[in-house]
Amino acid sequence: MLDKDEILKENIRIPNHLAIIMDGNGRWATQFNKSRSFGHYEGMKRVIDIVKASSDIGIKYLSLYAFSTENWKRPLEEVSYLMDLILVFLNKQIKHLHENNVKLNILGILNQLPPKQIKKIEEALKLTENNTGLILNIALNYGSKDEIFRAVKKMINDVWIGAIDKDSITEELFYNQLDTGNMPDVDLLIRPGGEKRLSNFMLVQNAYSEIIFTDVLWPDFSEKKLIQCLEEYTLRERRFGGL
Ligand code: FPP
Repeated sequence: MLDKDEILKENIRIPNHLAIIMDGNGRWATQFNKSRSFGHYEGMKRVIDIVKASSDIGIKYLSLYAFSTENWKRPLEEVSYLMDLILVFLNKQIKHLHENNVKLNILGILNQLPPKQIKKIEEALKLTENNTGLILNIALNYGSKDEIFRAVKKMINDVWIGAIDKDSITEELFYNQLDTGNMPDVDLLIRPGGEKRLSNFMLVQNAYSEIIFTDVLWPDFSEKKLIQCLEEYTLRERRFGGL
């Protein structure tokens, strides 16, 4: 169990907003001659661990990339399994998340998911909507280019129907149209799995985030590894373009 006071004593800087690209499930499973699904299941277990750890140490926003707009291109069997995992995760965890004051939020287009998943997610959103602890963003059917496109389209439509004046479009108004609404930008982005790219994940919100790429595959990612990443983040000098 992570103790927030211990971490603060060690002067570890806690990011307000942590984002993770959970990569490497397939390769993790393959090394044991297991199916990719087995790797995704183990990856889901790490979601549970890292949500708990993040909440314990006082991270306010945690954004997890679970399924991208591009992931539909994977074989049907894998897509179906990932969709099933959403149900498994919520069935297993939603009560616990709620008891721990976690507020669930979805990034991406919910209404393109299968009906069972939509229903379960909507119930979970409703149940946790007034919670004031960790805000857990799960990116599902999410792509950052798509998110930006939807935000721009929404503003054009609002101008068109007279809901806003074109001169009232500000950077802030644009940000607020993104799926993260008025949440703060990401402070720290971690990508396990050895690849060094953003893969269309929160491109605007990561404008000034610190990025840590690690070779550890997501199913091997642990609380200990999270703390190591936070230690590395603590040493980073953040200048936001200034001196
Ligand atoms: C990328 O690894 C991972 C995914 C596309 C799925 C991530 C999903 C989970 C961690 C579990 C589900 C989570 C929830 C919240 C229900 P990969 O399969 O591309 O790995 P590889 O690069 O080794 O093939």
